[in-house]
Amino acid sequence: MNIGVLGAGQLGRMLALAGYPLANRFTFLDTTGHPSAGIGDVMVYTDQHHLADFLAKVDLVTYEFEHLPVALVQAIEEVRPVYPSSEAIRVCQNRAEEKALFDRLGIPTPAYRLVESAEELEAAARELGAPVVAKSVTEGYDGKGQAVLRDPADAADAWRAIGHPRLIVEAFVDFVREVSIIAVRGRDGEVVFYPMAENQHVDGILRYSLAPMPDLDDSVQQTADDYIRALLDELDYVGVLTLELFQGADGSLLANEMAPRVHNSGHWTMDGAVTSQFENHLRAIQGLPLGDTAARMPTCMVNVIGQEGDPAAILAIADAHLHRYDKSERTGRKLGHVNLVANSHGELLSKVRTCAALLPESPEPRFSFE
Ligand SMILES: Nc1ncnc2c1ncn2[C@@H]1O[C@H](COP(=O)(O)OP(=O)(O)O)[C@@H](O)[C@H]1O
Ligand SMILES: [Mg+2]
Repeated sequence: MNIGVLGAGQLGRMLALAGYPLANRFTFLDTTGHPSAGIGDVMVYTDQHHLADFLAKVDLVTYEFEHLPVALVQAIEEVRPVYPSSEAIRVCQNRAEEKALFDRLGIPTPAYRLVESAEELEAAARELGAPVVAKSVTEGYDGKGQAVLRDPADAADAWRAIGHPRLIVEAFVDFVREVSIIAVRGRDGEVVFYPMAENQHVDGILRYSLAPMPDLDDSVQQTADDYIRALLDELDYVGVLTLELFQGADGSLLANEMAPRVHNSGHWTMDGAVTSQFENHLRAIQGLPLGDTAARMPTCMVNVIGQEGDPAAILAIADAHLHRYDKSERTGRKLGHVNLVANSHGELLSKVRTCAALLPESPEPRFSFE
């Protein structure tokens, strides 16, 4: 089976690494001009001619990046199966569409408004009550295209700073922790769920993901499972879907956003779960049985951002698994991650601190259950 992947970043690279044992071959279609190093067979998409060559090589198509022209994915869908579908991309690449779907399915979200001018932004901040978070409806990632307004009077500056014609404005959520749920739906409609992860973001970028959480109530996992199942079924989805949520002091969940792909908050599954999110995505899109999603042991993913630190010292930590993306160092850039596995959450936290100390500019790890 030759799998075509739209996008050619580290997520695609890790998909391929999970697919080689299944005898999968991969061809990547890069639309950015910056494919990941060492990823394998990459074609750069510039015109229809390149697209035809790509399609001639592949049996089915998936993606690792959702900021793609929907028309391109729809055109591909005419000639090859695409999993997840172009409809999933259309909804997930647009925060307004995404929130409308959450509303329709009864999945609670922060209060929000859509605005198309600085004046409307200011009015929305007044109505919702500052602080609020303004986000471009499309193209944002890693906290880019966002601004926090402490006061409605910040609207003009925020509007200018974001520089986008349409924004979503959300009430600022006073969460106890950020969490995510990752689920996989097969071609036959079977769904499996990973244990939820606690995610620590700093300046909009994920730094740490830990799963399973030692203090998570079964009913909260069940609620998250119900939310993501509703999304998967509604979209007739095939593959891995991720839903980011905020958890309040009373345990309640508010949906933040979703990603129609394997996700940074699921990298812990590579070493901490029976089947990784990457393998399960490949199983799903090929119509193979889905793998067990159980966590083997408490696991924490530490992102390597900006600088590589000392890889040898990191590898000296017991049960540390270093995944480097073969990228050059640059401020704020995701260069790799470390999965730390331990017998207990206490031991895990001590490994996380040891690892963070080896990574320059790592923020202090903080988990809600400490
Ligand atoms: N309504 C909100 N209230 C509080 N914090 C928020 C809110 N929206 C986003 N954030 C913070 O900003 C981060 C990035 O926002 P998100 O909507 O997930 O965009 P991105 O696509 O960049 O990941 C979140 O993980 C969270 O830490
Ligand atoms: Mg996010």
